[in-house]
Amino acid sequence: MIIAIDGPAGSGKSTIADLLAERFGYSKLDTGAMYRTVAYVSSARGVDLDDEESVVDVARALDIAFDDAGGAPRVLADGADVTREIRTPATDRIVSKVSAYPGVRRALLACQRAFAVGRDVVAEGRDIGTVVFPDAGLKVFLTADPAVRARRRVLQRHPGAAADDPALSAEIESTLADLVRRDRLDASRAEAPLRAADDAVRIDSTSHTVDEIVDMIASLAEDRR
Ligand code: DC
Repeated sequence: MIIAIDGPAGSGKSTIADLLAERFGYSKLDTGAMYRTVAYVSSARGVDLDDEESVVDVARALDIAFDDAGGAPRVLADGADVTREIRTPATDRIVSKVSAYPGVRRALLACQRAFAVGRDVVAEGRDIGTVVFPDAGLKVFLTADPAVRARRRVLQRHPGAAADDPALSAEIESTLADLVRRDRLDASRAEAPLRAADDAVRIDSTSHTVDEIVDMIASLAEDRR
């Protein structure tokens, strides 16, 4: 079975998809990491990000792999570990541009579908339920208040920091501005915009714990398995 989890940046998709994949013994497919990898590698190679054709060439030729063997999962681009580089604010700033290119989306769509052949998957992204796996057994559209999403994102970058640490407030503010900008770009692009599939279950995670959301989705998945 495929469990599709879509939603805006910072809605908790990644954490929740990890826990669901662990609970059911499914593989996890982080499609945002794939778009991030294309953006980061293009930029690191000095490709002009306004030159759609060149970015599409990178996406077509790049071998993106997820390595779960031992410890924290790693993202590999042509064998090189880019796990950290794809999560920096610099990559945050360029990824929406790259992910809006139809040729990039086509290249990654083929890899995403190939990943799921013959296995159970929890896939997370923006267009999983609408485009990548329209026949997914369960589709969830996860949302949360933007300020809460920004705070979560910053705390992910500073594990162990207190949620109300004043040293983080400037970063939370700039992250919020970036999230709102990215949501707008992701939702307004022509190709595979961020939107809930008609048959998706909408869940607002603002005032729920991660465990509560995971339990909710797990019980929906159990019903459909
Ligand atoms: O989920 P994330 O923040 O890691 O995603 C990074 C970017 O990739 C996000 O701005 C939108 C884009 N994306 C997309 O267009 N389609 C997907 N299926 C997943 C991510």
